[in-house]
Amino acid sequence: MRTHKIAAIPADGIGPEVIAAGLQALEALQQRSGDFSLSVQEFDWGSDYYKKHGRMMPEDGIQQLKPFDAIFFGAVGAPDVPDHITLWGLRLPICQGFDQYANVRPTRILPGIASPLAGVGPGDLDWVIVRENSEGEYSGHGGRAHRGLPEEVGTEVAIFTRVGVTRIMRYAFRLAQSRPRKLLTVVTKSNAQRHGMVMWDEIAAEVAAEFPDVTWDKMLVDAMTVRMTLKPQSLDTIVATNLHADILSDLAGALAGSLGVAPTANIDPERRYPSMFEPIHGSAFDITGKGIANPVATFWTAAQMLDHLGEASAATRLMRAVEAVTADGVLTPDVGGRATTEEVTRAVCEAIRGSNI
Ligand code: IPM
Ligand code: MG
Repeated sequence: MRTHKIAAIPADGIGPEVIAAGLQALEALQQRSGDFSLSVQEFDWGSDYYKKHGRMMPEDGIQQLKPFDAIFFGAVGAPDVPDHITLWGLRLPICQGFDQYANVRPTRILPGIASPLAGVGPGDLDWVIVRENSEGEYSGHGGRAHRGLPEEVGTEVAIFTRVGVTRIMRYAFRLAQSRPRKLLTVVTKSNAQRHGMVMWDEIAAEVAAEFPDVTWDKMLVDAMTVRMTLKPQSLDTIVATNLHADILSDLAGALAGSLGVAPTANIDPERRYPSMFEPIHGSAFDITGKGIANPVATFWTAAQMLDHLGEASAATRLMRAVEAVTADGVLTPDVGGRATTEEVTRAVCEAIRGSNI
């Protein structure tokens, strides 16, 4: 029996609701398969922890997480704690501390879920966005001077390094190569930003030479929003900076029907440290406690986690179960249905146990 050690950090808002749903699905998969098991330890870190202890996680939090094979993460953000504290106190230190430099965001229109794009259905939109996750506009460099005075200044410096750009580019080309269409679009803003972004374009061309079987093209980020909306079929794998991909992945989620189905994986491709898996949607305190959070993004990221752990057949089974359930119309309100989190979760667990998947 293969055992994987999972650290679950449900954290804030609907995080605990969707992580509980995800753990139920993972439990059903273990029972169904019988040849792997997950040993899950939960951590109560997040905004409530912050209110008690003045920090989002203990000082040695990263050390505590190190022995795990993967981190299953809910969401951070609370109405009464500033966003930059919740984010820089928990999620970003984990991403950066474990050098999870590849943020992988698949998007597909699942059966039974309507895209807001007229005439676009399952099969027309099947993308993976690779987001550079360690530097760029999120490097934390910058500062404020002369606070409160008329001459106050704030800088937010985007940092691009040859090492950082080359490794994400290789990851993206390799991923594109592993997908049937072998098609990669490199996104920048190298017309207006003539230093770091031009370096991106140059490094993309260098790395492309290592992958002669991958077809690739370049897009400026503004034009990319138009292409994603008007020609979704023309895209497959996409690589972009931390901020550009942040924005494009929200658009991708919306075009696929809801952010409630969008997953993400924060990967350390070299496997020196645990990687982290989370739904994209965030804490959503407007619906917290109502029992209507969409658990599909969490199921999908659980499938990404299983894949990363080498449990590919369990990952496939989980996605098939999710697709059977969405096709059946068992949907939460964000995707036009009336089901609760619990009902969707129960249906997915039943589909996992069912013999036809
Ligand atoms: C995401 C989120 C975060 C990000 C927020 C919560 C800071 O929007 O995962 O896309 O921008 O990284
Ligand atoms: Mg975002």
